[in-house]
Amino acid sequence: MFEIVEKSEVFNVHKIVVKAPGIARAVRAGQFVIIMGAEYSERIPVTVSDWDAAAGTIVLYVLEVGISTLELARMKVGDSLFAVTGPLGVPSEIKNYGTVVLGGGCYGIGGIYPIAKACKEAGNKVISIIEARYKDMFYNEKALMEVSDKLLYATSDGSKGTKGKVEDVVYEMLEQGQKIDQAFFMGCTQMLERCSEATRSNSIPTKVALNSIMLDGTGMCGACRVSVGGQIKFACVDGPEFDGHEVDWNELHSRKAAYAEQETGVYQSYSHECMAEKKFKQELERG
Ligand SMILES: Cc1cc2nc3c(=O)[nH]c(=O)nc-3n(C[C@H](O)[C@H](O)[C@H](O)COP(=O)(O)OP(=O)(O)OC[C@H]3O[C@@H](n4cnc5c(N)ncnc54)[C@H](O)[C@@H]3O)c2cc1C
Ligand code: FES
Repeated sequence: MFEIVEKSEVFNVHKIVVKAPGIARAVRAGQFVIIMGAEYSERIPVTVSDWDAAAGTIVLYVLEVGISTLELARMKVGDSLFAVTGPLGVPSEIKNYGTVVLGGGCYGIGGIYPIAKACKEAGNKVISIIEARYKDMFYNEKALMEVSDKLLYATSDGSKGTKGKVEDVVYEMLEQGQKIDQAFFMGCTQMLERCSEATRSNSIPTKVALNSIMLDGTGMCGACRVSVGGQIKFACVDGPEFDGHEVDWNELHSRKAAYAEQETGVYQSYSHECMAEKKFKQELERG
C-alpha cells in the first residue's frame, strides 16, 4: 500500500508520487491528506497537488523543514508510506469569478496547481504568481503555465520577475489597475498574512489555505484551532481555506510556534545522526 512510484527534488522540495487509488478517485482541488512515513512517525498534513484517478496515484510536494519531512525526503521509489489518510478538508469553492489570482510560495507552488486548473476549467482568467529566493528554486512551472493565462514570478534577489514576494506583484497589479475578482494564497503563514494585507484595501475576496498544526485531521483533537471573524474554527474540517481578512494572525503565529524549541532540537540531533551515518557509510565504502 501507498508505494512511492516517483520521486524527485528541487532545492529541498520533494515531489512524491504515491499509489493511493481510493484518494485519487475522490480528491478535489484544495484538499489534503495526513501521512505517516513509518509506523512510529508523526502524522503530517500535506496538500494533494495533483492526481491521476486511472493510475491510482496522487502527487505531493513536501518541503523539508523538520524531522518528519526529512524522514519523507529520505524515502526512495519502491518504499511505501505507512499511512495516507484522506482526502481531508473542504474542497476549494470553484466558480466563475472573473479574474482569479493565485499566489504560491514554498510548497504552495505545487499546492495551488489543482485550484488554478479547476478555476481555468470554470472559465476564469487565471493569473498565477509564484515566489522563491532565486530563479533556480522554482518547480512545477510548466504545469502551472498550462492552466494559467499568465504566470508571474517574484524572487528575493530579483533574478526572475519582480524583486520581492507575491504580495509585491499583487501591489504592482493593483497600481496598474488590474481588476481581481478573487484571490487564493498558499504557502507559509507569514506569506498568507502579507498577501491578505495586500488585497484588503481593495476589498478583494481572499482565501488563504491555513497550515495550522494538525493531529487527527477530523475535528476531534482541537490542535488546529484558529479564530476567523471572531469565531472558533478547526482548520482540518472547516478549512483549510478561510477568509484571509478575517483570520486572527497573531493567535495563529503563536499556536504554530508552540513546539518550536522541541521541533528544532529533535531536527538538529536527527540531522547530525544522518550526517554521521553518511560519513560512516562513506568510510566503509573506502575500506
Ligand atoms: C492543510 C495543510 C496542508 C499542508 N500542505 C503541505 C504541503 O503540501 N507540503 C508541505 O511541505 N507542507 C505542508 N504543510 C505543512 C506541513 O504539514 C509541515 O511542514 C510538517 O508537518 C512539518 O513537520 P516536520 O516534523 O518536518 O517539521 P517540524 O520541525 O515539526 O515543524 C516545522 C514547521 O511545521 C509546522 N508543523 C509541525 N507539525 C505540524 C503538523 N502536524 N501540522 C501542521 N504543521 C506542522 C510547525 O509549526 C513548524 O512551523 C501543510 C499543513 C497543513 C495544515
Ligand atoms: S487536527 Fe484535530 S481538530 Fe483539526
